Amino acid sequence: MPHTKKGGGVFIRFQANAQMTVRVQFTSTTPLRFASIFNLRSSPFSTSRLLFSGRRNVIGMDKEGFLQPAEAVVADSDLLKKKLDALRFSGPQKLQVIADFDATLTRYWIDGCRGQTSHGLLKQGNPEYDTKRDELYKYYHPLEYSPTISIEEKTKLMEEWWGKSHSLLIEGGLTFDAIKQSVAAATIAFREGVVELFELLEEKGVPVLIFSAGLADIIEEVLRQKLHRSFKNIRIVSNRMVFDDNGCLVSFKGKTIHSLNKNEHALDMAAPLHDQLGDVDGAINDSASVRKRTNVLLLGDHIGDLGMSDGLNYDTRISVGFLNDNIENSLDSYRNAFDIVYLNDASMLGVVKLVRQLFPV
Ligand code: TMP
Ligand code: MG
Repeated sequence: MPHTKKGGGVFIRFQANAQMTVRVQFTSTTPLRFASIFNLRSSPFSTSRLLFSGRRNVIGMDKEGFLQPAEAVVADSDLLKKKLDALRFSGPQKLQVIADFDATLTRYWIDGCRGQTSHGLLKQGNPEYDTKRDELYKYYHPLEYSPTISIEEKTKLMEEWWGKSHSLLIEGGLTFDAIKQSVAAATIAFREGVVELFELLEEKGVPVLIFSAGLADIIEEVLRQKLHRSFKNIRIVSNRMVFDDNGCLVSFKGKTIHSLNKNEHALDMAAPLHDQLGDVDGAINDSASVRKRTNVLLLGDHIGDLGMSDGLNYDTRISVGFLNDNIENSLDSYRNAFDIVYLNDASMLGVVKLVRQLFPV
């Protein structure tokens, strides 16, 4: 039974269909004030979906567009349009994609349960240590996404978390076999459309850098087990383990990457891989070098993920943020930080459409 309520220049329409799905439609000709959004939960059981039809959010909102109105928010559509034109004009040979892994390429909710991260899925064959790491997750994860803690304080907290977690993995005796078994048993899945995106980018010769504060060895195993194929255009920058001759974890290579220092690592960690990526086609020429790919499509789920492109001297960057949780409190900061924000654990199909629209066959 449709019901329309008018208030403060914003029309709010509640509509229930046969499955009692509630659609919330905001119609406004003035900039939308997201602080007033209420009752919008992001659990898997939440049926609320936002439908923005204010003038500031109209780009590409047709049926085939990459901004499905139910799940996308754009704060500055004029700026986005300019950036899209710039990427289209320069072509795929000037583009590189930099993507976060956990909760960006992977789903936040899976069958009503939180999808596991590359850290979180690990069972190190020692329940005492698994419990200790789980307790750390319960304590630090809400702090990681808290919109009220300062960046300085949060950075210290994240250093603490990663330090403790990596030490527990070494102390508790992690083996490479345990990694394989953990991935096989894990609640982890790629967002719908991720494989299509990888295929499309491979076809267009666009390199992808997966830049994660997770664990490189696990991410590689997840790619192997879940995708059953490799992509020659994908490279991974993440925390890498060192195993001894018996296959036991003894240390981690280099400096720790956590969710808030990706900017510091962007250049030193990614640069050598950027060079390798430039050669993925075997076509070694000027435009193949990633250093010369001056346009960036960045995908992340944390504001800190924006630091992944620091140090790259890019001309144009389109940033896409997946806001998976705590939408009421975080939407304002996400829409100001990212060019496009996908809500409610959206699929990757919007990004696939965006790339297709930029570079049609
Ligand atoms: P990302 O950079 O690929 O998103 O990976 C980082 C995620 O890993 C971050 O959101 C927090 C998560 N994490 C765990 O789940 N368990 C841990 O022990 C640690 C240190 C991080
Ligand atoms: Mg993430």
